[in-house]
Amino acid sequence: MNILVTGGCGFIGTNFIYFMLNESQHTLINLDKLTYAGNLENLRSVEERYAGTRYFFEHGDICDAELVPDLLKKYSIDVIVNFAAESHVDRSINEPGMFIQSNTQGTYNLLEASRQAGIKKFIQVSTDEVYGSLGPQGSFKEDSPLAPNSPYAASKASADLLCRAFFKTYHFPVTITRCSNNYGPFQFPEKLVPLTFLRARDNESIPVYGQGENIRDWIYVSDHCRGIKLCIEKAGPGSIYNFGGNAEYKNLDVIKKILDIMGKSHKLIRFVQDRPGHDLRYAMDFTLAKKDLGFEPSVKFTEGLELTINWYLNNNKWVDSIKSGDYIRFMDKWYKERE
Ligand SMILES: NC(=O)c1ccc[n+]([C@@H]2O[C@H](COP(=O)([O-])OP(=O)(O)OC[C@H]3O[C@@H](n4cnc5c(N)ncnc54)[C@H](O)[C@@H]3O)[C@@H](O)[C@H]2O)c1
Repeated sequence: MNILVTGGCGFIGTNFIYFMLNESQHTLINLDKLTYAGNLENLRSVEERYAGTRYFFEHGDICDAELVPDLLKKYSIDVIVNFAAESHVDRSINEPGMFIQSNTQGTYNLLEASRQAGIKKFIQVSTDEVYGSLGPQGSFKEDSPLAPNSPYAASKASADLLCRAFFKTYHFPVTITRCSNNYGPFQFPEKLVPLTFLRARDNESIPVYGQGENIRDWIYVSDHCRGIKLCIEKAGPGSIYNFGGNAEYKNLDVIKKILDIMGKSHKLIRFVQDRPGHDLRYAMDFTLAKKDLGFEPSVKFTEGLELTINWYLNNNKWVDSIKSGDYIRFMDKWYKERE
């Protein structure tokens, strides 16, 4: 089968490409715009081993209404897995327009081209954030109302609704996956786990929003990748699946765990003003994915965190090349404004 993976040079897309090359015989075509979050270096060893046989890279934008149909034809694509997105909530507060463009308009462009081309399965990689915020109890189910609170979440929820409409109106075979917070190798250090690692490594203060009371469910990235593979194999048209890691933690506790693994002082923690619209708690009920797909997360949080920190420690070159980029300037300014 030929699978078009969009956003394959980002965090989850990269892990998915490695996972699928190891765990399947499929051919993968990676379409990526190479934004600040896309890194060709992530896939250097894939290029060396599989380029031109089971792996092909195409530099381009999912919003490009000429390029996408051409690629679907050129590679006789059977399945699309759409990871491509602007993915950082903080940035979406500053620059919402590009989130609407890539996440909503881009998904529409992919859906329409895929419908015209008769694609057999379209997997839209969505997020728990489309459901909004929970109180102290309960968890999100697939039929929980969509109530996004950030421009990022709203752009993803809009894409989910377009997917739904394409299924209802055209019987186009879409599956939506909604997953909780991923962590693991290759994650861009604007997100909590690698940000904490990077700043702690260099003995810099670690910013925490509010009192660090916000709760997220954490899933190791390879568990998410396995869930998506199961969807390719088993999910029916119009289906929606939640994925989670059964690991709810306060942000402050996640940071303390990382500092402990690294043998660093908790004194590095610096509380900053909370960000606007900050959801208090997410938690996922993924009973349906267990029942229909046989999905179960396999990596425990503490084990996954250790794997992740070790990966970053062993990949200093990757970390340093990213640290010298634009993100540092954005993040430093962002947190300084909140001190
Ligand atoms: N990271 C998480 O915890 C998480 C959780 C649930 C869902 N998701 C979803 O998973 C997907 C991947 O997330 P991630 O953390 O890997 O993101 P990321 O920011 O690390 O990577 C995004 C990738 O998409 C590419 N891209 C962006 N806009 C594009 C465009 N218009 N055309 C082509 N490529 C484009 C970037 O270059 C980059 O390689 C996103 O759709 C996100 O909403 C992420």
